[in-house]
Amino acid sequence: MTALSFAADAALWVDRLTTIAYLIAALLFILALAGLSKQDTAQRGNSFGVWGMGLALVATVAKALTQSATHPGDFRSPLVTLILIALAMGIGAAIGIPKAKKVEMTGMPELIALLHSFVGLAAVLIGFNSFLAPHGVSEEMAAFHLGEVFLGIFIGAVTFTGSIVAYLKLSAKISGAPLTLPGRNLLNLAAIVVSLVFMVVFIVSGGDGVWAWVAIIVMTVLALALGVHMVAAIGGGDMPVVVSMLNSYSGWAAAAAGFMLSNPLLIITGALVGSSGAYLSYIMCKAMNRSFISVILGGFGSDGGSAAADDRDYGTHTETTAAEVAALLAGAKKVMITPGYGMAVAQAQYPVAELTSRLRAQGVDVTFGIHPVAGRLPGHMNVLLAEAKVPYDIVLEMDEVNDDFADIDVVLVIGANDTVNPIAYEPGSPIAGMPVLKVWEAEKVIVFKRSMGAGYAGVQNPLFFNENTDMLLGDAKASVLAISEAL
Ligand code: TAP
Repeated sequence: MTALSFAADAALWVDRLTTIAYLIAALLFILALAGLSKQDTAQRGNSFGVWGMGLALVATVAKALTQSATHPGDFRSPLVTLILIALAMGIGAAIGIPKAKKVEMTGMPELIALLHSFVGLAAVLIGFNSFLAPHGVSEEMAAFHLGEVFLGIFIGAVTFTGSIVAYLKLSAKISGAPLTLPGRNLLNLAAIVVSLVFMVVFIVSGGDGVWAWVAIIVMTVLALALGVHMVAAIGGGDMPVVVSMLNSYSGWAAAAAGFMLSNPLLIITGALVGSSGAYLSYIMCKAMNRSFISVILGGFGSDGGSAAADDRDYGTHTETTAAEVAALLAGAKKVMITPGYGMAVAQAQYPVAELTSRLRAQGVDVTFGIHPVAGRLPGHMNVLLAEAKVPYDIVLEMDEVNDDFADIDVVLVIGANDTVNPIAYEPGSPIAGMPVLKVWEAEKVIVFKRSMGAGYAGVQNPLFFNENTDMLLGDAKASVLAISEAL
């Protein structure tokens, strides 16, 4: 048996095993998504994801090595392949691990946006690679292959530049204000139509000759510009939805790369990311009362969600002290805590968890009411509370608690603002129609924040001036610690 025929036999086996490994990995990814949808199964879901990705990696590297052993003319030697893969992974890990260790929860959206740009760039590079060096494409599949190359580069390029603009906006490196060019929707539409025309030119040219090059280059430039323009047109308030939407785009870009590389696992994974990202964007749009279509089309038909000035006089507010709040809590039967972005900033989740267990030990019924977009990323509050070991069964969603506030003795609004703002019920207000926690229906409301300033949407909050609201001004962590001490 020659070395080459041995390698061919081994390759056949590796090929079969890879197919099985890909199937198992795909199942693990589906289990991961299912697990991540609930807090108490999230850790297990994460482990499924890690195992799935580990398996996929091993299978893909084994396949690459056997391919280079069995096609010595087409590929580099297995050793060079291995060195190149190890080098790429090493560089990636050297940049990624310190970055991931350093990132604060509040900085996650911009890091995620940056990571999406890499997926987009990878799809563009894979597209050009498949165009320049197509492998194993049969004649009848040639037109289909050209179509997938063209689409893969288009989606990848939009995701690449769109994600970079999202990163720059979220990290405040450029202004978050929406760029509203005249006829911006027509510009987007024109870029898509011209790209479609060039797609036909590209396929008809058979991917050969000057017209193929003209088509692919013009489309790439247009798609890069479209990505910039679509995200630049979206106002700061809608950026979280944009990040989740770019997550979805990056999934479709990965699926397109999977078609180009004939890798079924990449197609499945890309489709899972693409569809779950789209669904998450839809849920967030609903929770923030934004039009889904308007956001995915780059602010189509919206004013970018900018806040109008509210000069109305809401009267005076009442301030309280930690000792008074401690006395109030000691006499309460039912307490609800509605945390928001300020709890994350103050890192108050640990003292909040401590206060909760102290009150529960004294027989007070304590629950948490979580707004779907409290904080700065989906599930932000749930992650913080889980980190501080608050029992899952007392952490409830807005829909589960919103009709029960009348039965609550004291609501502690810890660093939340927009998500408890009754102005959302006022037609024409910048957050009009956004579902909010109806905390004002409780007997007493204590608001923990540092000043009387507005929240993320920049809107004044009349809740602060209600008769049954007291303001506990100061850093949320210090205030909660002071209450625990007084208790
Ligand atoms: P916000 O409306 O952002 O208000 C947070 C409040 O926390 C501020 O008013 C601030 O007041 C207070 N704060 C900040 N640091 C504090 C500290 N150290 N101690 C005490 N208080 C502090 O919060 P929210 O109710 O969670 O609403 C979230 C908003 O963000 C919504 O408008 C939502 O649409 C938007 N958004 C959500 C997401 C997702 S997906 N969750 C992503 C991006 C944006 P002071 O400065 O006076 O202290």
